[in-house]
Amino acid sequence: MRFIFPFFFMFLFAHAQTPYEKGKVLYMEKGCYSCHGNQLEGLHRYPKLSNRAKGFLSYKLKRFRDKISDNQQQEMMIAFAVGLSDAEIDALTTYMQEFVEEKQGKRYDTSFLLEGDGGS
Ligand code: HEC
Repeated sequence: MRFIFPFFFMFLFAHAQTPYEKGKVLYMEKGCYSCHGNQLEGLHRYPKLSNRAKGFLSYKLKRFRDKISDNQQQEMMIAFAVGLSDAEIDALTTYMQEFVEEKQGKRYDTSFLLEGDGGS
């Protein structure tokens, strides 16, 4: 038995995630990105979530989870918040507050972009 213990702990450490990483995974798993954007930048009427106060964001998420919304626009958040646990909200809001954009190099090939000719 005592030979197994070190491996058990190695396994635990290998899978230990920071709240930030957990939040990142949840953000993708729960589909938050589809409205709020991959970079949490927001889109149209969907608010930007990056680098905003954790206290405010969790206050809002818990309200949505309790099915409280202030206007019709916010109603659509309820479906995405009802299933969240306190721990998940904590991880998600940590991710949002501390969000750092990952620069993965160029995402688009812009070498064919014709600039300044109006695109014709
Ligand atoms: C179907 C689109 C959609 C999805 C998916 C979605 N949201 Fe939202 N979210 C909204 C809308 C709309 C609002 C409210 C905007 C307003 O107040 O007018 C909102 C508001 C919020 C707010 C409050 C921000 C503020 O400024 O009041 C938070 C926090 C939030 N969403 C987090 C999340 C998280 C976390 C997820 C994933 C579990 C998620 N959202 C998924 C559309 C979406």
